[in-house]
Amino acid sequence: MSVLRGKHVVLGITGSIAAYKAAVLTRLLVKAGAEVQIVITPAGKEFITPITLSALSSRPVISEFFSGRDGTWNSHVDLGLWADVMLIAPATAATIGKLAHGVADNMLITTYLSMKAPVFIAPAMDLDMCAHPSTTDNLDLLALRGNFIIEPKSGELASHLVGKGRMEEPEAIIAALEDYFSTGLDYQGRRVLLTAGPTHEPIDPVRFIGNHSTGRMGIALANEFARRGAEVTLILGPSSLRPREEVRVIPVTTAEEMLSQAEEVVGEVDLAIFAAAVADYRPRYAHSEKLKREGQEELEISLVRNPDIAATLGSWKRPDQYFVGFALESGVGVEEAKRKMRQKNFDAIVLNSLQDPGAGFACETNKVTLFDREGGIEAYELKSKEAVARDIVDFIARRLGL
Ligand code: C5P
Repeated sequence: MSVLRGKHVVLGITGSIAAYKAAVLTRLLVKAGAEVQIVITPAGKEFITPITLSALSSRPVISEFFSGRDGTWNSHVDLGLWADVMLIAPATAATIGKLAHGVADNMLITTYLSMKAPVFIAPAMDLDMCAHPSTTDNLDLLALRGNFIIEPKSGELASHLVGKGRMEEPEAIIAALEDYFSTGLDYQGRRVLLTAGPTHEPIDPVRFIGNHSTGRMGIALANEFARRGAEVTLILGPSSLRPREEVRVIPVTTAEEMLSQAEEVVGEVDLAIFAAAVADYRPRYAHSEKLKREGQEELEISLVRNPDIAATLGSWKRPDQYFVGFALESGVGVEEAKRKMRQKNFDAIVLNSLQDPGAGFACETNKVTLFDREGGIEAYELKSKEAVARDIVDFIARRLGL
């Protein structure tokens, strides 16, 4: 039996060619036992008729603030309270912009603004619109506010161009909803410390030594723990990304700052995850003035070792605490990862190999293998970092008996 049985779903449909797939989505939701209330934008009705949708959902489709026939008021507030989940599929660039900025000029946006339930957004648009910074910034903003973005796929688009922008297939959208409803608040009452992002080690006031880490994997983990009820503190090196609002963020720049902030928090947590890509070395001196190149053919910067944050905190770990580290290896790296797990006193370690295409720094995907001290091994496929975060959080939940 599907976890969607009896769930109240508000399905928002907007004006994209992918709107025809909303019929299949409705069918699948109804088949899973959900009650579906469709809200469609005026442009959406150009692509699929309300008659098809009301027949499939067995409910009148809402589009206007007032019903044309009898003047009945369609209450977006009531819908916001009725829903267990809102799904906007397909979501056009225009709707995504309006959602992000509260432009409440149709029933779908007002419903969204009144929504008390989680919201899933499945974008569909042409590749250039999808890649445009206004779209990506709006989606980032919506994700930051706790909405779930169901990433569009690459493939042939309505324009016959090939690229990213195809709405995810209805079956996969249903799977994302089922996934959401099948995980509960298993981390409620647990406190989690995460380190994430790179560190920047100053050479002078304008230059630093750093690395390509974006912090995305650690932020995805922070979001997943928070969603499942944990109280999360994220010590985040320089990153343009931010987690959901309920995560407490402590922004830091250098490894030494990261360590001193982590030292403050680590005694109070049940779980610590070290996902930061800490710079191994820092310049011995951070010059207070900008270094001049005039008259300098060569420049030598003397480096000193940074503290190992994970190893330092690992050496203080209490038996009631569970620590997890990361190992990013350029080779296969299994033995190296296991050695680091023991050396840094981790209970488990996440290995990602740079040999795997699509894994590691600055990509949206990752491919990981998890090891624990008891000899447990789990290898996963290439997935979005958000999906990898779920696997890691599930893996830890099984170890903790949650
Ligand atoms: O030794 P290596 O850098 O590969 O170890 C990776 C693990 O150790 C990661 O969990 C990383 O966050 C952590 N680490 C750390 N402080 C350092 C270096 C690595 O916390 N200075």
